[in-house]
Amino acid sequence: MKHVIEDLGRRRGRARLGGGAARIDAQHAKGKLTARERLSILLDEGSFEEFDAFVEHRATEFGMAANKVPGDGVVTGWGTVNGRAVFVYAKDFTVLGGSLGEAHAGKITKVQDLALRNKAPIVGLFDAGGARIQEGVAALGGYAEVFQRNVLASGVIPQISLVMGPCAGGDVYSPAMTDFVFMVRGTSYMFVTGPDVVKTVTGETVTAEELGGADVHATRSSVADGAYDDDVTLLLQARRLIDFLPSSNVSGAPHWPTRDDPDREEPSLDTLAPENPNAPWDVKELVRKVADERDFFEIQEAHAKNVVVGFARIAGRPVGIVANQPAALAGVLDADASRKAARFVRFCDAFSLPLVTFVDVPGFLPGTAQEYGGLIKHGAKLLFAYAEATVPKVTVIARKAYGGAYDVMASKHLRGDVNYAWPTAQIAVMGAKGAVEILHRAELGDPGKIAARAKDYEARFMSPFVAAERGYVDDVIMPRETRRRVARALAMLEGKALANPWKKHDNIPL
Ligand code: HXC
Repeated sequence: MKHVIEDLGRRRGRARLGGGAARIDAQHAKGKLTARERLSILLDEGSFEEFDAFVEHRATEFGMAANKVPGDGVVTGWGTVNGRAVFVYAKDFTVLGGSLGEAHAGKITKVQDLALRNKAPIVGLFDAGGARIQEGVAALGGYAEVFQRNVLASGVIPQISLVMGPCAGGDVYSPAMTDFVFMVRGTSYMFVTGPDVVKTVTGETVTAEELGGADVHATRSSVADGAYDDDVTLLLQARRLIDFLPSSNVSGAPHWPTRDDPDREEPSLDTLAPENPNAPWDVKELVRKVADERDFFEIQEAHAKNVVVGFARIAGRPVGIVANQPAALAGVLDADASRKAARFVRFCDAFSLPLVTFVDVPGFLPGTAQEYGGLIKHGAKLLFAYAEATVPKVTVIARKAYGGAYDVMASKHLRGDVNYAWPTAQIAVMGAKGAVEILHRAELGDPGKIAARAKDYEARFMSPFVAAERGYVDDVIMPRETRRRVARALAMLEGKALANPWKKHDNIPL
């Protein structure tokens, strides 16, 4: 008996060593943790249950028969994050560069299937060289098996990708189909084809960092939802994100106890939105002052800063926040901001997270760059996303709500449940200056007359009361009471039941 126990211990020890001590040292020398070290930070201490540690590939060509490592380059299983079950797979770069072959793919699809069946989130940790070259089409097939499951799980369980090393070829498309992608600065990069292929095909000389580093994807391409300085910071932030998310589309969001009084007043909000409609202000201050313990988890912080999206809790309940940001591009909606917010709204709707929308938007950004870039289609994405959303929608118009952007930002007309406005709100087709210049073109040569017309227009339209008279806003609220009013609205909406007409799926303007 003793020898079988010893044999198990030996086998386990060998599997835990992955590609061996030298490769682990090399991994550390690059500033990266190993797959198992990463999982020990992501998951609650001692909670990781590993599966398939003894799986080996069955490839024989290119000397592969003699090149087997138990576990086959990916560590899989499940554990908990603050007590809630989460399935995981972590590529082990020390084994054949974390490359994916048939057996490796089989390990991933096993936990994908388990996560979907058991309705729990799944987190993939990427640090790999793509398709295992020695396994040829078997590797390609393995990727497609993973992709298929990503798609089936989309909207059913949260899927999170943590890119913590190279991520190329087949490895990029799985993260791209998951809900959130985080990257590590300096050590991770994602691209479909690497710098060498780029050089050959286009003649461009570019480094891996320039082509697909964390900042490129978090700022420009929006492939990444967040960039962090090192493995540990990223993993701790992933834990924080998971705490906001429901385990599945049927589980309901986790409710965390809070000591923050839902009735807390914030007198400073009364003067937050400047009287001058052109003066910027930081909407994140409003978000933090409304959120429990000022805790706001921002998504895509560095991309399209003119709209702010992320998770907060109000009276212990997680919500999705969408807010125009007057401190960036005056909070205008452009193509990037529309896409960013639309994707976030759809995530929240899929997972039954209520939407709290803060509005200060001068409209959609004019210009050829935007029109040629498909602003109509991208703006329509946000309109579509809000209109199809059936989760509770609570909207607060803080200042401007002009033109089509008024309609789009969770207005009453798009089934907004509770729509409030601050007294500083201006709800109109456009700003006063633009309006009178169109309506009174003949008087353009007389600045005095135009100024008087603008004043008149402002008095008539640039207040929340015209909309309130029609019931388009349910109440004009004191800014200092925003947290209490939003919290009460959300509590009232907890039993909301609304369904869209049956369809196979919609046809959102992609
Ligand atoms: C097999 C691989 C591998 C791969 C790396 N290795 N990538 N083995 N298949 N795809 C092995 C290396 O041979 C090496 O083994 C070890 O992993 C570490 O790799 P290094 O190159 O020494 O590390 P580094 O210098 O850090 O470079 C990492 C890398 C590079 C940038 C990822 O290895 C690389 O470019 N790999 C190939 C990337 C690629 O083209 N993949 C195929 C993409 S096509 P030894 O034993 O020597 O230490 C694809 C198609 C799928 O994925 C499409 C589906 C839609």
